[in-house]
Amino acid sequence: MMKVLNFINGEWKESSSKQFAPVINPATGDAIGEVTVSIEADVGAAVKAAKAAQKKWALEPAPKRAEVLYKVGYLLKERKEQLARMLTMEMGKVIEEARGEVQEGIDMAFYMAGEGRRLFGDTTPSELKDKFAMSVRAPVGVVGIITPWNFPIAIATWKSFPAIVAGNAVVWKPALETPFMAQELAKIFEEAGLPKGVFNVVNGDGPTTGNALVEHPDVRVISFTGSNEVGRKIAEKCGRSLKKVSLEMGGKNAVIVMDDADLSLAVEGILWSAFGTSGQRCTACSRIIAHESIKKELENRLLEAMRTLTIGNGLDENVKVGPVINEKALQKIDRYVQIGKEEGAKLLTGGYILQEGEYNKGYYYAPTLFTDVMPNMRIAREEIFGPVASIIPVKSLEEAIEVNNSVDYGLSSSIFTRDVNKVFTAMRDLDTGIVYVNAGTTGAEIHLPFGGTKGTGNGHRDSGVAALDVFTEWKSIYIDF
Ligand code: NAD
Ligand code: ALA
Repeated sequence: MMKVLNFINGEWKESSSKQFAPVINPATGDAIGEVTVSIEADVGAAVKAAKAAQKKWALEPAPKRAEVLYKVGYLLKERKEQLARMLTMEMGKVIEEARGEVQEGIDMAFYMAGEGRRLFGDTTPSELKDKFAMSVRAPVGVVGIITPWNFPIAIATWKSFPAIVAGNAVVWKPALETPFMAQELAKIFEEAGLPKGVFNVVNGDGPTTGNALVEHPDVRVISFTGSNEVGRKIAEKCGRSLKKVSLEMGGKNAVIVMDDADLSLAVEGILWSAFGTSGQRCTACSRIIAHESIKKELENRLLEAMRTLTIGNGLDENVKVGPVINEKALQKIDRYVQIGKEEGAKLLTGGYILQEGEYNKGYYYAPTLFTDVMPNMRIAREEIFGPVASIIPVKSLEEAIEVNNSVDYGLSSSIFTRDVNKVFTAMRDLDTGIVYVNAGTTGAEIHLPFGGTKGTGNGHRDSGVAALDVFTEWKSIYIDF
């Protein structure tokens, strides 16, 4: 049983609350560890340490700060398999996906290390004589990071690596469900030689620990990934104190399949995007907007492909769909399936909790497919966050785009077509932060901006150079001579 503590000013500390929460393996329902549950005072101690450390860290030349990230990248690479196995055990995603997630962290480390040599500003010709004008990126100070359980290491790397290379110090509150990855990342930073206090982890729940971070006056930026409901609350609080806040929230992502699509390719893309990570991705495909002329064939092919989805413990290499995170998630998914049936959607397969035999103790939901779903139904508009996909029939590309754009979210979308004109129309008109052509809605890489429009975000981006905008302030400098 692993006992996870806080990492504050380079030391491992138990919260003065003396409370511990269990860490449950969702594949088996077994407790595999416990984690200290922090109170406001722990957040205060971490922010104090971060504030003191940041001043010195910001004085290190950026290429030197980047050297730590290269070391972090190599350590992540060395421990990839060990981390992936631990990730599967605490979160449930299948091992192949867990390896992919750790790889995202490795890629982010090397990408952001490179940014240490490219923290470019601008020089701009002045309007006036004998004046030199330039702008530089300055760190903001102490950064508060709040993350969900579904990508327990990747999301922390998308946020902490750009923050640290830009000269900030970090206090991270991971999700209470997945503290192992937080502990491992802190150990790696320690081994890579990051000065004490630049990276801190405070474990705990949202309303107490997360909220204390949001409300702390010395935290200058909050970078949050999670649900829309919690993101809105955080935005309101940050708005009142004029704190900079970056929000990455939910999705209701769609794959559009046109009449001229390569259906084999489309089925492959949908299968992975809808049922990978048991649908618990912000980018998961939960709507399949299908041209009416290929709808029937697509249904048949999807049903055939879904029969190959082995469900079980993600540590088994043959398993394609693991458990969902906990009992609460299982019940929420099942409620949405009942709502779908009541709304008049046609259930093609799945729609039930798996509880017999080997599934008895874990949290497993059968991959589920609805068809003849109308765009105004709740299952077509609200984030379910489970292995449930809905086919919505349409008559044209224009209608498909309208349906795609009609939801409150705007993270990821995709179109399968062989027609280059349709491709360019979709690229222009799909109102999402990420658009895929002839690929599913998941799998975004770290070198492009990651995030979405409308209810998904507030205009900021994780990853890519754009991430630096969250963790730096532009400073304009005029020199008269
Ligand atoms: P959640 O919003 O319940 O929790 C996210 C984090 O916020 C957790 O660490 C939680 O403890 C904390 N939190 C909760 N209440 C808080 C409060 N009042 N103040 C401060 N912090 C608080 O989300 P979840 O269930 O952990 O994750 C699933 C959600 O995350 C889904 O909606 C999913 O779409 C979203 N997500 C979005 C992205 C993206 O990049 N757009 C990526 C992954 C997940
Ligand atoms: N990289 C992950 C995806 O796109 C978040 O699904």
